[in-house]
Amino acid sequence: MNLEKIWLSSPHMGGNEQKYVQEAFDTNWVAPLGPNVSGLEKDIEHYLKEDMHVAALSSGTAALHLGLVLLGVKAGDEVICQSMTFSASANPILYLGAIPVFIDSEKDTWNLCPIALEEAIIDRMAKGKKPKAIIGVHLYGMPFNVDAIMAISKKYEIPLLEDSAEALGSTYKGQKCGTFGTFGVLSFNGNKIITTSGGGALACANKEQKEKAVFFATQSRDNAPHYQHSEIGYNYRMSNICAGIGRGQMEVIDLRVSQRRAMQLFYQEIFKDNNSVSVFKEPTNDYFSNHWLSAIVLESYEKREALRLALEASNIESRPLWKPMHLQPIFQQYPFYGGKVAETLFEKGLCMPSGSNLQLGDLERIEKVLNTFFSKSK
Ligand SMILES: Cc1ncc(COP(=O)(O)O)c(C=O)c1O
Repeated sequence: MNLEKIWLSSPHMGGNEQKYVQEAFDTNWVAPLGPNVSGLEKDIEHYLKEDMHVAALSSGTAALHLGLVLLGVKAGDEVICQSMTFSASANPILYLGAIPVFIDSEKDTWNLCPIALEEAIIDRMAKGKKPKAIIGVHLYGMPFNVDAIMAISKKYEIPLLEDSAEALGSTYKGQKCGTFGTFGVLSFNGNKIITTSGGGALACANKEQKEKAVFFATQSRDNAPHYQHSEIGYNYRMSNICAGIGRGQMEVIDLRVSQRRAMQLFYQEIFKDNNSVSVFKEPTNDYFSNHWLSAIVLESYEKREALRLALEASNIESRPLWKPMHLQPIFQQYPFYGGKVAETLFEKGLCMPSGSNLQLGDLERIEKVLNTFFSKSK
């Protein structure tokens, strides 16, 4: 096949990334600290919320891990986590020897179901253990039901770790995702809406928390002329080279959000008269998704798989939705609360090519495969 591959989501440079990277070389800041690191942190703070304090880290996973450490999660503690997500949301619970408790999705947002969440908290407390933290995820950029989840977090006094890895630029009632929880997590992995090639950030509500995050991320060095350590440390700081890429990318974040949203509209238009396909969209005007990935839900597993293979035959990448964590071999033995919403979405859902850098010719190729597939399967 000669057709060039159409990716689900590939890096899209803005143009000024190399300028910042060059500056790092010119000034010899080739290290996990430097002007690009602090510059990127300022850029993100400015973008999210002026009074936030952001620590740039080596990955979103590192940010989740440090978020849990900062929330005081220890071995044997229980941590509630949205089941329908990428494994990186849940793995750090196990890094700490803690126990994940998984929660089903609600149909509207595909995120934490408030009813199952409260049921789980009540049941875990009745069993003698109050969960130490709640990890909520804004899946594919769609904000979770912030009002409902925050109300439960407040009612039971359980802090919220907000996994906003996929949702930079999304808002709920006009406020940016990543700014609601006790901590917010961002990812700048190569497949995200903007990238540092690999990287992440922890958004903190105050300066002290940020300083503590940076302390843990730089091997927990005590204040001494020699190497002195009183706490476990991690090597989780972002490199000044990667941060340079991030600074260039932050210049185009608003454009990237509108480009991703245009991709979702492209799919809405294609499927507007097709009752057998639903395109994932905001349930109300309170929600504004960056539509990091556009996703569709088909009638059945068989249809979803047939479409995925038809796209693959034309060298177009698509991917089933995240397989819920409670169905993953590594997490199967842990408690789960809810029904089959996440499981059904996994069976029938497909993520479509969503990159901000797709060209008109790419869109025509995608549309052609979709039109042929659905006209044949009528
Ligand atoms: C929901 C979610 N959480 C966490 C992560 C982890 O981020 P990273 O790949 O930067 O470690 C990702 C993406 O990779 C993600 O999609």
